Amino acid sequence: MNLENIVKQINTWYPKNNLPIPINQPTINEKDINSITDTLNENWVSTAGPIINEFEEQLKSEFDQKEVVAVNSGTSALHLSLLGLGISQDDQIITTPLTFVAPLNAIKYVGAYPFFIDISQKDLSLDINLLNQYAEINFVQKGKFTFDIKTNKKVKALLSVDVFGHIGDIEEYRKFCDKYGLKLIVDSAESLGSKRNGNTSAKFSDITTTSFNGNKIITTGAGGAIVSKDEDFLNKVRHLATTANTETESHSYFHDLVGYNYRLPALNASLGLSQLSILDKKIMEYREIHKQYSNLVNKVEDIEIFEETKGAKSNYWLNLIMFKETISQDEKIKFLKELNKIGIGARNVWNVLHQLPFIDRKHLLKYPIAESIFHRGFNLPTSSLIIDAKN
Ligand SMILES: Cc1ncc(COP(=O)(O)O)c(C=O)c1O
Repeated sequence: MNLENIVKQINTWYPKNNLPIPINQPTINEKDINSITDTLNENWVSTAGPIINEFEEQLKSEFDQKEVVAVNSGTSALHLSLLGLGISQDDQIITTPLTFVAPLNAIKYVGAYPFFIDISQKDLSLDINLLNQYAEINFVQKGKFTFDIKTNKKVKALLSVDVFGHIGDIEEYRKFCDKYGLKLIVDSAESLGSKRNGNTSAKFSDITTTSFNGNKIITTGAGGAIVSKDEDFLNKVRHLATTANTETESHSYFHDLVGYNYRLPALNASLGLSQLSILDKKIMEYREIHKQYSNLVNKVEDIEIFEETKGAKSNYWLNLIMFKETISQDEKIKFLKELNKIGIGARNVWNVLHQLPFIDRKHLLKYPIAESIFHRGFNLPTSSLIIDAKN
């Protein structure tokens, strides 16, 4: 495999006047600037103001859910979700080894135990067959709780992540969670607008979180949201996110719980509101960019591209390109450095989470698929209109 040659070929894919190309850049237009200016002119800059409610209302219809709480990051959305469910010390959460570290961090923030199951090659999310096999052998019911006899912990939730925009086997996860009395949380930070069999992951989850970080398909600068059908749960989350003050109506301060300052500021909400109007267009653009990448990657002998599974309509937030054969991390990093040197913002796939130093290795299983994608994979930029269509 000649890496220099692959760099040269990839270099021909981008219009030279567009370099450098970040991995993913926001699309900011006049409407966004006016929306923020209006909010500034009205003096709503912090975590109060009508624009936050307006943004939440729009998000409700986007997710087709009863309640939404807008918060200041995708990470705080995940943290609040676990707090709101009352997940605490030593509760077990089943999750994926291949994702950005935020969901794992949230599990650790509440002192819970992350239990990793390998992913499926077809959608990059938890492999439902492995999940069922493991549960059949190791899960027992004690009263109203499910225990894992191997780890000796109470299993409370399945936290699935829609990786690079691809929704996992969500209908099967729902059945699994119903069977074992678990909550289904989906981290949809990367999959806003994606569908599987015509549905968003929120249709089947108990809780869905998302992120509006600057590198996501639409942005509030920094921000996130939690959506759910359960209004009581989301009222609790809203309360926790606003320092758990019970006396706001009387303009006083009394906090009945340890609360958090996690609400989304109005300035960010005003950007989010205008950004929502371009979501459909961005999805179309990203899917077109993916099509172009597919054509180009398929002409290069040593690499391949990940394609969405049957029935899925991904937002293709990031394109996953993989070497057909395993290469060493050293070689891959050298390759990525070469691409970045010529202005192509390529990046590595996240290190698999079960190998991070703060993970308890006692109950790890085998993770060949996640590890193979980590070893072989990298991402190329999805910044809008980057690829020269003439190629
Ligand atoms: C899958 C996933 N979950 C959570 C997050 C965290 O979101 P934020 O950066 O808004 O905290 C990100 C990325 O940023 C992500 O990719």
